[in-house]
Amino acid sequence: MSNKIQALHAREILDSRGNPTLEVDCVLESGHMGRSSVPSGASTGYHEAIELRDQDSHRFFGKGVLKCISHVYHDIFPAVKGHKASEQTSLDRLLIDLDGTEKKYRMGANTILAVSLAAARASAHYYKLPLFRYLGGSVQHKLPFPFFNIINGGKHADNRLEFQEFMISPRKEIFGENLRAGAEVYHTLKKILHRHKLSTNVGDEGGFAPNIQSTKEALEFIVEAIESAGYRPGLDVMIGLDVAANEIENTDNLIDQYVELVERYPIIMIEDGCKEDDFDSWHELNSRLGSQIQLIGDDLFVTNKKRLEFGIKRDLANGILIKPNQVGTLTETIETVKMAQENGMKVMFSHRSGETEDTFIADLCVALGVDQIKSGAPARGERIAKYNQLLRIEELLN
Ligand code: PGA
Ligand code: ZN
Repeated sequence: MSNKIQALHAREILDSRGNPTLEVDCVLESGHMGRSSVPSGASTGYHEAIELRDQDSHRFFGKGVLKCISHVYHDIFPAVKGHKASEQTSLDRLLIDLDGTEKKYRMGANTILAVSLAAARASAHYYKLPLFRYLGGSVQHKLPFPFFNIINGGKHADNRLEFQEFMISPRKEIFGENLRAGAEVYHTLKKILHRHKLSTNVGDEGGFAPNIQSTKEALEFIVEAIESAGYRPGLDVMIGLDVAANEIENTDNLIDQYVELVERYPIIMIEDGCKEDDFDSWHELNSRLGSQIQLIGDDLFVTNKKRLEFGIKRDLANGILIKPNQVGTLTETIETVKMAQENGMKVMFSHRSGETEDTFIADLCVALGVDQIKSGAPARGERIAKYNQLLRIEELLN
């Protein structure tokens, strides 16, 4: 029986924030089925592809995805019926052309991505391959280093911390050991916050959201937690920050602040240190710190090849964050990753703050040989789902 697409089923499910999102099942003539659901951001970049929502205030306060479901059944299915699921590039091209707009305004990047990924997964089942092998072939695979978001601020929490994410990245060779280190530091941090009578409630990505204000205070707590858990800050466990500068009102002096922080703390990565279109500041940041640490563009590049190409020419950053729903198809995601890799940039895969239990990014990042991933804290099911999938892949590889 063939691997041609026989049916698509689309449904509205809830994401980790309790907001509706889209899930699609792709059924092949052979009977194999692939399922995928799309995540949703809160601090989204202006240049991201469009996330389609109903705007009908009677359901889910206007956030429903019934329009997406209608596009799957009425526009996409008639066009892709009978298309081989294994021919991903032409399938994605068809979806892109069907939408016909630069930012997937008509059908929504969320709608298109769910179909694109569901087809890939169905095809992997058809060939009886684990997804990472199906996507990446039989080359020597390596597990990525994780970045665990253990303190949440910015738009992901109700505290007054300016920076959005404070992450730790254990640097052992074995992923399982890094996951363990992440969990141990996370639990130690919880005890320390508790001792200081600070809240240990968590933010959207599972990190603690204590009612503190200063970046330095957060970093001091993290360094203490790393040490108390029995690890050496700067050797065993490093620190990363997602500033999400777009969400910060006053960005004067931020670069000076980073230079000082990098001198004092074992920071190896700063994401979105400048606003998405403030190219002069990005360039300055990259020339001042680019030889020491990773400067990763999230809202700056939005997983978009054209933005990345521009950034490479202008020397704006030395790394890129990859979120498939920022661009809307598997093929475009892979193209952007390849361009970054060919230009010697650091690549980090990423979840969104509103997530589902879908673990596609875990397999995809291993398939593409990407060496870093962030999927939130080592806590909360939708975050852990990705880390646990990486554990399973590591087991398969050994
Ligand atoms: P978002 O944030 O998923 O809420 O957009 C994540 C990030 O900025 O990296
Ligand atoms: Zn970010």
